[in-house]
Amino acid sequence: MKESKPLPVYIPVNRRRFFKSMAAASAGFTLPGFLAEALTLTASPVVTQGPYYPLSDDIPLDKDNDLVQLGDNLTAATGIVTYITGRVLDSSGNPIRNALVECWHADNEGDYLYSTGTGRNSACDANFAGFGQFLTGSTGAFRFRTIKAGLYTGRTRHFHWGVTIPGKTTRTCTQTGWNEVAYGNNGAVWATQNSNDNVFSPLSAAQKASILLDFTPVAGTTTGEVAANWDFVSGYTPVEPTYPAPGGFLAQGEPVAGPNGTVRYKLTIPAYANYCYEIYGNPTMADLEWKALPFSLSQTGSIDRHKHVATAEGSLSLYVAAAAEKGFYKVSFRVPGANTGMP
Ligand SMILES: [Fe+2]
Repeated sequence: MKESKPLPVYIPVNRRRFFKSMAAASAGFTLPGFLAEALTLTASPVVTQGPYYPLSDDIPLDKDNDLVQLGDNLTAATGIVTYITGRVLDSSGNPIRNALVECWHADNEGDYLYSTGTGRNSACDANFAGFGQFLTGSTGAFRFRTIKAGLYTGRTRHFHWGVTIPGKTTRTCTQTGWNEVAYGNNGAVWATQNSNDNVFSPLSAAQKASILLDFTPVAGTTTGEVAANWDFVSGYTPVEPTYPAPGGFLAQGEPVAGPNGTVRYKLTIPAYANYCYEIYGNPTMADLEWKALPFSLSQTGSIDRHKHVATAEGSLSLYVAAAAEKGFYKVSFRVPGANTGMP
């Protein structure tokens, strides 16, 4: 897939030289917010989506921001538990809310979820979600728990990211890497490092600095968990899409009788043809924002989807199994034509 040129952040030359010398001379000196942001902000490089964005029948029902715990599996994904936290920002450093952040990558052995056959790749760790998504709130913050990406021939270690900014109908793709030497699981130095990787090596020094991340041990952990911080900087200005119906998209869940004596929660929303709906509920991990929830279109039928494209205008009922700890759910929508999979 052809690589597209990264979007620049422009600052007049003489001012740029002045600020640079300021930054170099006094690292601890804090400049007013917007000046500091303009000085240090590097647009995230737009790179290939690659061939392994999961097909719709590969994506698990449980597509939340925790890729280590897949559904109700009793076993966690294999690998070093890795946290990525960050923010989605516009080119002036302002946080972007309602940005959809998608993450996918290879499992501990280098296998992706992606499969041209039916369902997910059977070689991929059965306990690894392989794909997760997050919808940012007003702070633009996101967080993922996953595992250290495994290595596969021809590439160095990397995470894939797709970020869809409000107003855009396609995701912007980028990748992050590890600011370290890559070793295979057998301990041998891997043939492809950041320096000869076909995606990372062509990037500018500033871009490499922004996406080759330093992972540090999580304080107090005994299992080798690591974490890094990374901000996605968009070259686009978000435009909140208008929705035909008034009111925000926080929906209460009406308790109803589910299958086998269980309780389900019915959400009723005004729907429009070709709009795609997803549901987020209960915060995960340190109370950070919302978790994507699978749902059903029927009160007692199986929980069989994680998104739904409405076929007609009218009242739409969606049923979730998870109770809303905060008493309400967030229903997000994608405008007609917005990506719901491979663009
Ligand atoms: Fe990849």
